[in-house]
Amino acid sequence: MDIERIIDELHLYEKKVLKALENLEPPISPEDIVKSEKMDIKAVMSALGSLESKGLVSVHKSVDKILKPTHASKKYAIKGLPERQILQLLSKEGPLEISEIMKKSSLDKTENKVAIGWLMRKKWAKIEDNTIKITSEGEKSLERLGSDEILLQELAEKGQIKLSSLSDKLKKAFKLLNQRKGLLKVKKVKEHEIHLTDKGKTILERGLEIREEATQLTHDDLKTGRWKKLYYRGYDIHAEYPIIFPGKMHPLKRIIEEIRDIFLKMGFTEARGPIIESAFWNFDCLFQPQDHAAREMQDTFYVKNPPETKLPDKSLVEKVRMVHEDGGSTGSEGWQYKWDVEIAKKSVLRTHTTCVSARFLLENKPPLKMFSIGRVFRRETITYKHLPEFHQVEGIVAAENVTFKNLLGILREFYTRLGFKVRFRPAYFPYTYLSTECEIYLPEKETWIELGGAGMFRPEVLEPLQVETPVAAFGLGIERLAMIRLGIEDIRMLYQSNLGWLRSLPVCP
Ligand code: FA5
Repeated sequence: MDIERIIDELHLYEKKVLKALENLEPPISPEDIVKSEKMDIKAVMSALGSLESKGLVSVHKSVDKILKPTHASKKYAIKGLPERQILQLLSKEGPLEISEIMKKSSLDKTENKVAIGWLMRKKWAKIEDNTIKITSEGEKSLERLGSDEILLQELAEKGQIKLSSLSDKLKKAFKLLNQRKGLLKVKKVKEHEIHLTDKGKTILERGLEIREEATQLTHDDLKTGRWKKLYYRGYDIHAEYPIIFPGKMHPLKRIIEEIRDIFLKMGFTEARGPIIESAFWNFDCLFQPQDHAAREMQDTFYVKNPPETKLPDKSLVEKVRMVHEDGGSTGSEGWQYKWDVEIAKKSVLRTHTTCVSARFLLENKPPLKMFSIGRVFRRETITYKHLPEFHQVEGIVAAENVTFKNLLGILREFYTRLGFKVRFRPAYFPYTYLSTECEIYLPEKETWIELGGAGMFRPEVLEPLQVETPVAAFGLGIERLAMIRLGIEDIRMLYQSNLGWLRSLPVCP
């Protein structure tokens, strides 16, 4: 990077810190800079951070210990450690029994015990004939202090000492003293030693001008023209920045909202229905025979509790029975079997949202346009495009002259608004005639994939519900649409909470 540009982009604090590094004697710590530049430690640390990221300084981090005396150690620094006090007592009084020491010393009981312990450990005294007697080592020690005692005195004098500044001998003494309770306060501190790099030196050689810089333009600066004289630092557009992951809507939810918005804009009314549904509304009312493969346990989740659901009005149930058995008055032959009301009462997790349309037709009279978005459940083996629980968007348009062509037009409009090219191929559903399946084109894969079913509700569905106009109906899978929209190969991604992937998606579509 060009030196001139680096200098132009240096913050005032960075310049001050660089200057301080030029003038101070190594080793240099952030605290030295705080003192010499009269800067706040936070400002120094932040300037050091950015200078380091620009390669102008290197910061060597290490851990040290700060030693401070306690109340007890200050007292012992004057009077001597307990063992020294007893050594002096023994020197004055000659060998003493422990009980005599206890009586004669000015230490308390615990201190006396400690003193005797350390007298032995330091080999200043020994026990002979039940008395404690000074050794030759003890005699010598009467004349000179041990290194632990020297350290205690230094600590009392200086108030605090860094462990790293101690001689090897005193470092050993620290270990000894630190074994004893209540003599030292030890605090770990992080140390930073700062060095100028060659790049930093080049910048200083080139010369730095320290001058106040404008950080914020005020209304006044602009009005008075003062802005022309102010000094502005160059922007470093390559500066490191933290990557933030703002909260956002889950992509599946976002697509659901988009679909909802499209249907509302197309003039549809939104409806909802229960997730635990009776087989009656999920299958029977839709002219799905009671021996239909989709109703088998291996395809549908039957609910244990409640095992049965309430059926609608008896006359509707009766009409559905007749339609199944012989077509009733629809002109159809029906399915020609004995319809069982007990099977219709069973509770299921709805397998599609088409039951919401059937319920809506009972309650509302045409003309109408209704859509519904909801979860549906099927006993499917999970694959890259199959889930046991997924969403469908369902819709119906009922009016005097609604035709199959209108249905295709509505679906084409919906998919075009979502940005897809759609085509239709013939299909079969027990409840519609004509029926179709919509497929959309995947340019990357150069294939068409099936996204939903649609058709005109049959008279066997409409007559029991007393609907007299034609009804165009459709039911489309949402997860498959989401897969294509998001460019994912596996439908399971939508439910796996893969944070990396979710974070990579745009906040807004
Ligand atoms: C139906 O569910 C019909 N009720 C649709 C319908 C409504 C037809 C009204 C006529 C009139 P189908 O079983 O094909 O159709 O499911 C519709 C769509 O749901 C499928 O095209 C697919 O996109 C999606 N889908 C089906 N099974 C799964 C699954 N296991 N996982 C994910 N999506 C699925």
